[in-house]
Amino acid sequence: MNSTLINAPTSNHVNRFKKGIGAYLLDEEGNKFIDFKNGFGSVILGYNDSTVNSKIKSLIDNNEYSLQSLTRYHDELKSALLSDFPYYDGVCLYNSGTSAVRAAVTAARKFSNKSIVLSAGYHGWDPMWELPETPFMPNNNGVVDYFFILEELQKLIKKYYDQIACLVISPDLSYFTNEYFVETLKIASTNNIMVIFDEVKTGYRYKPGSCIKYNGVYPDIVVLSKGLANGAKLSALVGQSHVLREISDMTITSFFDVLSVVSGVETIKKVHSNDVYESIRKMGGAFIEGTRKIICKYKLPVKIIGNGNLFQFVFASKEMSSEFYKLAKENGLHMYEEDNQCLSYAFDDGALELSLQRINCTLAKLSDKEEYLQMSIDDWQMCRTAYGQIDGVMNDLPVEKKYDFVSKVLFNEN
Ligand SMILES: Cc1ncc(COP(=O)(O)O)c(C=O)c1O
Repeated sequence: MNSTLINAPTSNHVNRFKKGIGAYLLDEEGNKFIDFKNGFGSVILGYNDSTVNSKIKSLIDNNEYSLQSLTRYHDELKSALLSDFPYYDGVCLYNSGTSAVRAAVTAARKFSNKSIVLSAGYHGWDPMWELPETPFMPNNNGVVDYFFILEELQKLIKKYYDQIACLVISPDLSYFTNEYFVETLKIASTNNIMVIFDEVKTGYRYKPGSCIKYNGVYPDIVVLSKGLANGAKLSALVGQSHVLREISDMTITSFFDVLSVVSGVETIKKVHSNDVYESIRKMGGAFIEGTRKIICKYKLPVKIIGNGNLFQFVFASKEMSSEFYKLAKENGLHMYEEDNQCLSYAFDDGALELSLQRINCTLAKLSDKEEYLQMSIDDWQMCRTAYGQIDGVMNDLPVEKKYDFVSKVLFNEN
């Protein structure tokens, strides 16, 4: 009988790797891939970063690894997080984005003594986020998704004004501006609604701490994970301690795991003492620019949205997109299909040169299909692709089209 590791995340095109070195992954056959996926964006420094690795080795050598108690590393992590979020005084630790967001919502519900949660974006696998049968209605867990449509958010605030526990938003800077999120914070603040920024993906991806410049209005809780620990299992809430105390007993068996905590401490130290984000933005930007030139050369209907820190490919059709990712794999590029690409600090000039050669081969082959050259990217295809990254509706559309996308495309209504 074949046994299966049931909930392992799958990639359609690459199944197993043997080694990770900097910007590269090696498979069992020795093929070398340049990684644009980096553990769904969690490997910010690069695979087997020497600074993080040597600290982990020293933990084991010094009998500090398996302690099951608070250590100085927990204090260091707490202090590092609070120095990047100086307007907060409380930290909670978890081991996944899903559990941290769930805990944040529980804190807001308990603190406000209200139950309705208004939400936009992906917040993990928990069934509490399941979509209802009808758009803009509460699901079985009292969560209403407004898909980033601010006009709908305003309507929902009027409709549920005395029942709203919090607003949970996953900021995205590819399809929204900073001002969009500041405006959302202002709407919430005017209506006395608590805000949770789910920055599991975007925290520590663009700069140390939040990806948003707040302009004086702050979320009540920020959820962090992917950028924190170079791929180790670590997530955190930062917020006001009088709010977070509501969930002081919601803790986890692996709370004391020093490995993830130390990975977090070392990663945060390193992003502060090096030009991590500038370098990723610059190298990613050079990749995007070079790729755009190749796209023009082959006259392909392909766009790239976002910047060097995080970006997404947009193709004229689903079929063309699948073909691209298949060819990319054949050409040694490991990519996050249909979602965002995230480079690491280890992506250097050599990786840039090689990846441009490989993307050239990939796009040349894609352009062999005459039918693709006749296509163009329409609004629906743009929206569908954006949805793959943001789990909501992109902002750059007339409001009627936003509603049409939700009802006709997401909910199949006619
Ligand atoms: C914004 C956001 N929130 C929550 C999650 C869930 O995190 P995890 O997969 O660690 O449970 C993710 C994961 O991709 C995410 O991007």
